[in-house]
Amino acid sequence: MICSIRLLTLFAALVTVTSAGPLEKRGLVTVPISKSAPSGHKALGHFERRRASEFLAGRYGKGISGYQAGTTASNTASNTSTSIGVANALDTYTMQVQVGTNKQSFNLLIDTGSSNTWVGAATKYKPSSSSKSTGDSITVSYGSGMFKGKEYLDTVSLGNGLVINQQSIGVATSSQGFEGVDGIIGIGPADLTEDTVSRTTTVPTVTDNLLSQGSIAQEVIGIYYAPTTENGAINGELTFGGVDTSKTTGAINYVPITETQPAGQYWGINQTISLGSTELLSAAGIVDTGTTLVLLATDVFDQYMQAIPGATIDQNSGLLEIPASQVNSLQTLNFQIGGVTYPFTAKDQVLDQALNTFYGGNASAFYSVVSDLGSPSGQGLDFINGYLFLERFYSVYDTTNNQVGFATTANS
Ligand SMILES: *[C@@H]1O[C@H](CO)[C@@H](O)[C@H](O)[C@H]1NC(C)=O
Ligand SMILES: *[C@@H]1O[C@H](CO)[C@@H](O)[C@H](O)[C@H]1NC(C)=O
Ligand SMILES: *[C@@H]1O[C@H](CO)[C@@H](O)[C@H](O)[C@H]1NC(C)=O
Repeated sequence: MICSIRLLTLFAALVTVTSAGPLEKRGLVTVPISKSAPSGHKALGHFERRRASEFLAGRYGKGISGYQAGTTASNTASNTSTSIGVANALDTYTMQVQVGTNKQSFNLLIDTGSSNTWVGAATKYKPSSSSKSTGDSITVSYGSGMFKGKEYLDTVSLGNGLVINQQSIGVATSSQGFEGVDGIIGIGPADLTEDTVSRTTTVPTVTDNLLSQGSIAQEVIGIYYAPTTENGAINGELTFGGVDTSKTTGAINYVPITETQPAGQYWGINQTISLGSTELLSAAGIVDTGTTLVLLATDVFDQYMQAIPGATIDQNSGLLEIPASQVNSLQTLNFQIGGVTYPFTAKDQVLDQALNTFYGGNASAFYSVVSDLGSPSGQGLDFINGYLFLERFYSVYDTTNNQVGFATTANS
């Protein structure tokens, strides 16, 4: 399969973090990308709707029986921040995390939509002298999968630069839906860990511990993804403790976490979406690194689709197929967040064709990165800005000040 061969080549590469500014004080961390490729194809549109339905039900990333509301979620660059390279596994962004005194390495999916960190889906966890079993069990549900396991406290190193002592981690005894990765580094709000671990209300996330152990000055994560202009362009970085201003152009525009539920349980924001100058939606939704596409509530998506003559839904991939004749004349989709408009141009709206077959589509077709959320608007979570949106704009997840920020980049 051509796709896998290309992926293996890409995964053998190294990501080098190159940035300047305040981060230089602590030195930057270079993280190798693991040599692994996602297996098989996935019908992306269908897959993403299953994940979205769990967010809508307020269940995503939670204990199987868990229900809770509310979230805690900054500001500009701190000088105590460290950037770590991230890789795009084509269907997700991952980073290398080392666990234990033996520095066992795991390739973990970066998920802003959940908050437990766990390992062992592919590579089996080997306890070392720093690992301590808590005797508790852990179960977490994700739209497209789940995992069960045992809870441990262990030393977690992020890109060799940041060390977290006694981090609560799950070690999988069984998992579904995580082929090609070892688990998750959960960087969503800590409340999402409620009822995931037995005999425990919530467990501190990696960012909670980085703050409490003095490794970062504020609980803020900045994410920079380089746009995927080629098959599997893989450069990106995660900055703990602040914003890597060498990657942004202009100020960070912050908005409070939305009060609307269930979006407010995640990194939820209020946003207005317009097609050209026609407003389609003004509502709450979420920003999610674990989602690939931009998902819009069904009635809003239908308006988007109807504005593209001849557009149809491809049954295999579940994606919106755009006639070749329309590809260059798509109207700009404008995302207005906190008074700032982030334009998503015709070019931004077309999925990189090199990924078509991987996503269950036809190699020569054109698919939109805008897809159907699978439920109508008015349900408190009417859109998901996935990583194809986040590849255009720098994003900031600020637990300390309960807000999300965006900035343009040189790629915007
Ligand atoms: C961080 O910045 C503050 C204020 O600018 C300064 O006093 C402090 O020395 C800096 N710390 C480091 C580690 O550079
Ligand atoms: C978001 O929109 C909702 C519904 O219009 C509104 O109640 C809320 O005040 C807005 N702002 C925030 C931060 O939630
Ligand atoms: C793929 O697209 C081409 C060109 O439109 C078409 O001829 C072919 O039938 C399509 N194949 C499938 C499997 O849909």
